[in-house]
Amino acid sequence: MPLDTSPVPDYQQQLRLDGKGYVVLGAGQGMGRQTTHALSQAGAQVLCMDIDSDLAEAVAAEVGGIAFVGDATKRSDIEALAAVAAERLPGVDGFVDIIGMARWGGVLDVNDEDWDWQFDMVLRHAYLASQILGKHMVEVGKGGTMVFIASVSALTAAPNHAAYGAGKAALLAWIKSVAIELAPYGIRANAVAPGTILTPRMEAQFDEERARHNDELTPLGAMGRPPDIAGAALFLSSPLSGYITGRTLVVDGGVDVKFPYTPL
Ligand SMILES: NC(=O)c1ccc[n+]([C@@H]2O[C@H](COP(=O)([O-])OP(=O)(O)OC[C@H]3O[C@@H](n4cnc5c(N)ncnc54)[C@H](O)[C@@H]3O)[C@@H](O)[C@H]2O)c1
Repeated sequence: MPLDTSPVPDYQQQLRLDGKGYVVLGAGQGMGRQTTHALSQAGAQVLCMDIDSDLAEAVAAEVGGIAFVGDATKRSDIEALAAVAAERLPGVDGFVDIIGMARWGGVLDVNDEDWDWQFDMVLRHAYLASQILGKHMVEVGKGGTMVFIASVSALTAAPNHAAYGAGKAALLAWIKSVAIELAPYGIRANAVAPGTILTPRMEAQFDEERARHNDELTPLGAMGRPPDIAGAALFLSSPLSGYITGRTLVVDGGVDVKFPYTPL
């Protein structure tokens, strides 16, 4: 065999986003705030969108970014967001869509109002952002990345997550179409599927005993924290993941890989 003398890239440099512009939807706290910091530390200028003006402004101030207040489930707000991104960022090189929340209910309990609310909360903003920011990225012609926060509830029958899980599973199907249709333009689309992550909102829902039990169930020994998701979002936003599209990266400390039965 001849010696392999093919060029070796600078792998660390491939994690850098210097001179690029990113939008984070739901940037205000938890995973969104940490993802904003991760993108900013990698060199990107970040447009921080949140429905809560105090949160949007606080995180933008932390990273020297731009705050944008809006409701991501409204087409007019995403159009306004895209206009600000085009005008004030060095480029629209990608976005990370963090937004989502579960309204608890089993299959026999979900009502029509819950169903519509749930699909807006997990899916509508992803559709709007992909389409509206995507059109801009296609027109500019420099490629880019889209990262969406899904959930392990899209992959398993998580208790009381019937409508939420259905919406997140639909999100994964949507991402596959986005990935394939926009691949010719150099745009990649991927999902991160978190397990249980102690965001500020989740932390309020856990008492000590339940938290300890969940930690014990996790092969890596503890529930996740927002930076665990931000790291995955940064990887999928960076050139280091340049050959990955249409995929879901599960970030759950190994819970999903465990053998579920009691051994003999
Ligand atoms: N926390 C978990 O254990 C967990 C597990 C699996 C998946 N997820 C997913 O992770 C993502 C983040 O969850 P989280 O618990 O960190 O949420 P969070 O509520 O802590 O953060 C979401 C942010 O989005 C903002 N937001 C909400 N609705 C908005 C809207 N319509 N327009 C603009 N901004 C809006 C909120 O103000 C908040 O700052 C969600 O997609 C959720 O479904 C969370």
